[in-house]
Parts: sequence; structure tokens; C-alpha cells
Amino acid sequence: MALNIAILLSGFGSNFQAIQDKIESGALDASICLVASNKPDARGLERARAAGLATWAEPHQNYPDRVAFDAALGDALEAAGAELIVLAGYMRLLSKDFLERFKGRVINIHPALLPSFPGVHGAADAVAYGVKISGITVHFVEEIMDSGPVIIQAAVPCIPGEAADALQARIHKQEHRIYPQAIQ
Ligand code: GRF
Repeated sequence: MALNIAILLSGFGSNFQAIQDKIESGALDASICLVASNKPDARGLERARAAGLATWAEPHQNYPDRVAFDAALGDALEAAGAELIVLAGYMRLLSKDFLERFKGRVINIHPALLPSFPGVHGAADAVAYGVKISGITVHFVEEIMDSGPVIIQAAVPCIPGEAADALQARIHKQEHRIYPQAIQ
């Protein structure tokens, strides 16, 4: 039976779109039960609505703290029947309580070969360091940002003299290929 997945995003949502496209084409045996966000104006939510998917969007500023926001988010995910929670550009740390509640069922994609270059500037940090190979990591989420057991990695060679945003764009393209594979 198809795996019920929920997507968490805060922005553009191209990884969400790539996952949805693979589901529609039959290459990924899953079904998206909810697309949730802490940013009600996220472009990814528009894409989700256009695809006719259920959405949940609440500004985290409406809650007294992270634990309260994550509890409301968790209730929505549980009510939707999410078996796997897929972070796709979700720009917010998840609380310990949330990760306990969904233990082993939260995955993330990061634009670098972890444990190298965690944080929000994975591609730029790789270029600044001068590595010859960068890439992508899909991993289970643990409390420390960009840590946790690796599911899939893909290598993306660095081109000498290439700007960070160009590397970032090539990485982004490969993310769309490997995230659906990791879920499958
Ligand atoms: C991706 O680069 C991903 O690695 C990072 O956030 C970005 C999301 O991109 N975690 P998009 O919103 O899916 O286009």
C-alpha cells in the first residue's frame, strides 16, 4: 500500500513538486496526505493547493514557543495520518518533543555531503572551502541540525571557478532526482 507522507516546507517547494510529480507518474509509491508550513505565504503551499492537496499553514509567531507550535503541527500531521514526514526546505528547527513523537519518521534533504557543511549555506561553504566534490544528503532527522543517519547521498563535482549559486543550482537539480528515490 502507498506510504502516506506529509511534506513540511517554508519556501519555494521545488523538492515537494519533484516528489509529487514522481507520485503522479507512478515512479514513487506514496501519497501526500498533507503539505504543512510555518509560512502561510510560501510558494510551495500554492503549488500544493494547485495540485488539490490538503494544506496546513500557521505562522509560528502565533504560538508562545517552539514546543507549542510543534505540538499543533504534530496534531495536524497525526490527524492527516502521516507515516513519514518529509522536510523539503523547512527552515525551522524541530523540538525534541516533536522528534520523540515521530521518532525515526522524519527525513531531511541537505545540499552538501554531511557531516561536511551543515547549516543554511551548504553550497557556498563548500565553494569557500575549495572542495572538489560536493553533493546532497538525505538523512533521518535528529535534534542537532543536519545530523542523523544517512539514507542516500549523491556526489556533485565542483567546477573550478564556479560561483556558489551556480553550484547550488546544479545541486538543486540533483535533489529532485534523489529525494523521491530516498522516500521510495
Ligand atoms: C533545498 O536546497 C534543500 O536542500 C534545502 O532547502 C532547499 C529547498 O528547496 N533543505 P525547494 O524549496 O524545495 O526548492
